[in-house]
Amino acid sequence: MIGNRSNIQTFHASTEHPIPIILDGDPGHDDAIAWVLARSRPELRILCATSVCGNQTIEKTTYNAGRIMALLGMDVPLAMGLPKPLFRDPIIADTVHGKTGLDGPDLPEPVRTPVPYSAAELMARCLKESDEPVVIVPTGPLTNVASLLLLYPELKSKIRHISLMGGGIARGNWTPAAEFNILVDPDAAKIVFDSDIPITMAGLDVTEQALVYPEDFERIRHVGNDVALVVAGWLEFFYHFHQALGYPGAPVHDAVAVTALVRPDILSGKDLYVQVETTGEFCRGATVGDINRVSGKPANAYCLKDIDRVAFVDLLVEAVNYFG
Ligand code: BDR
Ligand code: CA
Repeated sequence: MIGNRSNIQTFHASTEHPIPIILDGDPGHDDAIAWVLARSRPELRILCATSVCGNQTIEKTTYNAGRIMALLGMDVPLAMGLPKPLFRDPIIADTVHGKTGLDGPDLPEPVRTPVPYSAAELMARCLKESDEPVVIVPTGPLTNVASLLLLYPELKSKIRHISLMGGGIARGNWTPAAEFNILVDPDAAKIVFDSDIPITMAGLDVTEQALVYPEDFERIRHVGNDVALVVAGWLEFFYHFHQALGYPGAPVHDAVAVTALVRPDILSGKDLYVQVETTGEFCRGATVGDINRVSGKPANAYCLKDIDRVAFVDLLVEAVNYFG
């Protein structure tokens, strides 16, 4: 049922009192659209952006982050994440996002160069400087967020919430059990899910319903400004891969993590205790949800389950309209 939010976290985002957020992603087409949405919303105040290695190498995702920020006029510090997951080798998703990690429309060159220190340090600086707790929005593997928690445990209380795209209670997409972001760095994901910080999990259960259909691309393109044309081009590229797998549209996974902050009324889900499988022959990277409450453990994540797809598309159209 849409709008049936649990009490794990309620956001009171308003234009008068915007929520300070940190964007952490591996852009990536759907990360890029998530950042478009975040940038368009006056109820959100973006403090900084950090790149993570996932969809492509850290050099490529950082370059893409800089290009997206230039397109969106997002004038905040950017830091490059670690070159690899905490304890494992990288896995990239070039089949989905292309050789550059963000194939498709031409983009402006980055305006800002990344800060000369790590993503975890930039996040820590932003948390320290913020006079109120901050929401982190990770849309890639959780390597940077876990590093932040390991290196600066004293800053945990400055993290109000983590609204992340990752996992899937019912299924995986990179293996039968595991979703890409969690599979790439399950050790980091475990640290985050075990952190006691309130989490909203936009997993595949909901994000595979966040479908943007080809006719919706046209609505977006029709808006006609530079950002709208680029977003339509990203959707075309992203859809191409998914169409071959039988999807009727492009699942814009990462934008759901931002939607949870600004339009919780179009989402529903439930509180669950979620454990991350870090080993195992078949299930490494799985997010195991205690649906039948057999663990006796309290919920650690609000797991999104349903989205009003039409309202989600309207939200994206509204987002590109923001850019003039
Ligand atoms: C996730 O994997 C990446 O390819 C997307 O950007 C998204 O964050 C979906 O499984
Ligand atoms: Ca991503």
